[in-house]
Amino acid sequence: MLLEDLHLENFKNYKSCSFSFGPKLNFIFGENGNGKTNILEAISFLCFSKSFLLNSESDCVKYAEARFDVAGGFENRVGTKHKLRFSFNKDAASKELLYDNEKLSRFSGFIGKFPLVVLSPQDIKLTLGSPLDRRRNFDLLLSQISMVYLDDLRKYNRSLKQKNSLLKDNLISRKYSVKEIKGFVELWNRELVDFGIRIIIRRLDFLEEFKKYLERSFYDIVGKRYIPLIAYESEMIPEDALHHSDVNALKNRFSELIDSKMEAEIKRGTSLCGPHRDNYIFSMDKGGELFDMRTFASQGEHKTFVVSLKFSEYDYIKESLNHTNIGDPILLLDDVFSELDKNRINKICGLIARYEQVFLTTTDKNYLGELRKVYSDAKTFEVINGSANLVN
Ligand SMILES: Nc1ncnc2c1ncn2[C@@H]1O[C@H](COP(=O)(O)OP(=O)(O)OP(=O)(O)O)[C@@H](O)[C@H]1O
Ligand SMILES: [Mg+2]
Repeated sequence: MLLEDLHLENFKNYKSCSFSFGPKLNFIFGENGNGKTNILEAISFLCFSKSFLLNSESDCVKYAEARFDVAGGFENRVGTKHKLRFSFNKDAASKELLYDNEKLSRFSGFIGKFPLVVLSPQDIKLTLGSPLDRRRNFDLLLSQISMVYLDDLRKYNRSLKQKNSLLKDNLISRKYSVKEIKGFVELWNRELVDFGIRIIIRRLDFLEEFKKYLERSFYDIVGKRYIPLIAYESEMIPEDALHHSDVNALKNRFSELIDSKMEAEIKRGTSLCGPHRDNYIFSMDKGGELFDMRTFASQGEHKTFVVSLKFSEYDYIKESLNHTNIGDPILLLDDVFSELDKNRINKICGLIARYEQVFLTTTDKNYLGELRKVYSDAKTFEVINGSANLVN
């Protein structure tokens, strides 16, 4: 998928600005605080219907303005053009997504039609942050390639929300007898187990498949010195399960756990088990010894892990979409070079060439020299205080 043009209206520090992008590298440079990341954030409003930085829509409306509009023109693998427009009105607190001029009633069904992979300095949260940051990352990735996963996740989250609000209400009002509340919780639990098992199995299958992609991009940057690993941590995986695809063992374990926690859940007024509490653990195998990224990695190692992770996400999505007309994902690289040594930067510059359309921001224009060795057709934009000029 290619983003051919973009128009921003009252988006953050942009009053009104139009871009015409190239099909390969779009190199965006400028000094701190001038609006480079804002361009990428606007692109994520089109592809994800939300900010990849998780900023609220109202924070993205230019100061003293009432609404923002982001419009983009795309072209898929077979040359079909599509238009997207995301608008947010601050006073009405209403957002709207137009797909080829038609208003979409539900945003989530749309995810994956314009696939996107984003690498941002905030992704340091992936190796350093909470389990929620990692789950959110992989849920977004899997949702982009699997409507089934997205649907299971949505149903699971809906049941979880209902169960939690029942537990919370009851804790305050005590309106149900113990028998009654147990009966209601039991009903939600059956749904949570059914959808939850599907989610866990998809995540585990994904990690099996993803392994080779992650290793490849990691080796391409640092060589075969260490092995990057991602493990899935879940109470629902019984130690005696022969293989993770042992669905019955998983289901029995999850059912037993959720039943055993019922009284504690009623007492605490919240759900205490399920895939919404699972974790992905990142580590590095250094000659047989396992190092947990969160505890042991240096700053550059964190960054390297995250860069390889994002490159492998790109490769994984690309291969999953190979049989569709959608085409390759768009790759946003926000400040990709910071924290890295020259050697790794040069490797990354070489690697970027294997991707289709890339948007790369940096404060240092000099990287363009290295990138030009692999990209003869880069388009360069200089961003100055909410306006962008095409330099070549
Ligand atoms: N709602 C808003 N209205 C107007 N300006 C805003 C709004 N939100 C953010 N900004 C401005 O946008 C600028 C930040 O833009 P952005 O994050 O894109 O900078 P950048 O070029 O990526 O900088 P850096 O190199 O530091 O990452 C800041 O100056 C900020 O004040
Ligand atoms: Mg920035």
